[in-house]
Amino acid sequence: MTTENSSFYSDEELFHAMQVRKSTRTYNGVELKPEHLRLIQNYLKDETQMKGPFGDTFRIEFMNDVDIDEQIATYGYIKEFNAVLMAISTPEPSALFEMAYVLHGLVLQLTEAGVQTVWLGGAFNHKDAINISDMNENEIIAAVIPMGYESSKKRLLFDYIAPVILGAKHRKRVDDVYFSNDFQTPFTDNSSKYYEALDVARRAPSAKNKQSWRVVVDEENKSLHLYAFFSLRDEVGTGRKQYACPPEYLDLGAYFRTLELALIHKGLEGKVIIQNLSIEIPQELDIEYIASWIQN
Ligand SMILES: Cc1cc2nc3c(=O)[nH]c(=O)nc-3n(C[C@H](O)[C@H](O)[C@H](O)COP(=O)(O)O)c2cc1C
Repeated sequence: MTTENSSFYSDEELFHAMQVRKSTRTYNGVELKPEHLRLIQNYLKDETQMKGPFGDTFRIEFMNDVDIDEQIATYGYIKEFNAVLMAISTPEPSALFEMAYVLHGLVLQLTEAGVQTVWLGGAFNHKDAINISDMNENEIIAAVIPMGYESSKKRLLFDYIAPVILGAKHRKRVDDVYFSNDFQTPFTDNSSKYYEALDVARRAPSAKNKQSWRVVVDEENKSLHLYAFFSLRDEVGTGRKQYACPPEYLDLGAYFRTLELALIHKGLEGKVIIQNLSIEIPQELDIEYIASWIQN
C-alpha cells in the first residue's frame, strides 16, 4: 500500500496486478470482506482516483448483497457473486473511454487485494440492471463488473471451454497491434524505451478478447497514438447478449489505464491529449483515433 494514501496500492503493486489479473466467472458466494468493501468505497469517493484524462462525466454505482436470480441475470455465465459495479454514462466515446479507465484502476486495486472480477459488456440482462440502478434518460449501462472470490469448483463450459474459445490467455503479437509512425510499418523495435510497457499492456481485458487497441509509436515526438479497431459493431443493440455501446471504447479505457501504469513503472510519465494527426488510416479497416499520450 502507498504511504501517501494508506488505503490504495501503489503503481508498483498495480504493475503486478495487471500481470496476474484474469476474468473469473464462477465465484464462491462469500460476501466481500469489510476491508474490500472499504477499498471500493474509498476509491469511489476519491476525486483523484475517479478522474480520467478528459473530465467527462460518468457514474459508477456499487451494489452489495445483490440477488443474482432476482436482480441481475447473467444468462448463467457468471455464478455466485454478491457484489457488482455498474458503469453508467452517456454513450459518448470519450465518456466511455474515461469511465473504463477509472473503473479498471479499481479492478487492478481489487486484483491486488485478492478480489476477483469480470468485465461484462454483453452477458448480463440490461433490463434487470436498469431496474436496479438510478439511471437518467440519456444514460446507458455500458458494463457491469461482478466481484467476489473465485470458487474452487469450476464449471466445464464457463471456466474451461469459454476461455479456450476466447483464447483468453492469448494476446496478439506486438507487431500485430503496434506500429511505427504509420499503419504500414509494424512496430518491432524491442530496444525502444516504450517496448516493455507496450508489451505488458497487451494483458488488458477486452470484449471477446478482441484486443481492439492499436498504437502508433512516434519515437521522435515521444508520443503514443491510441486507436480503436472495431469488430463488434454488429453486436451493439438492445437485445439479449448485445452490447449497449461499442465495447471497443471500454477496451481502450481499460487498456490505456494498464499502459499508463506500465509506463510509470518504467519511469515514463506523460499527459493525454487529442491531436489533429495526419496518420493515414487504411480504408478497409474500421479504426478510430482516440487520443495520444505524450511523454513529459
Ligand atoms: C468491455 C469488456 C466487455 C466484456 N464483456 C464480457 C461478457 O459480456 N462476457 C464475458 O464472459 N466476458 C466479457 N469480457 C471479458 C473478456 O472476455 C476477457 O477480458 C478476455 O477474454 C480476456 O481474458 P482475461 O480477462 O481472463 O485476460 C469483457 C471484457 C471487456 C473489457
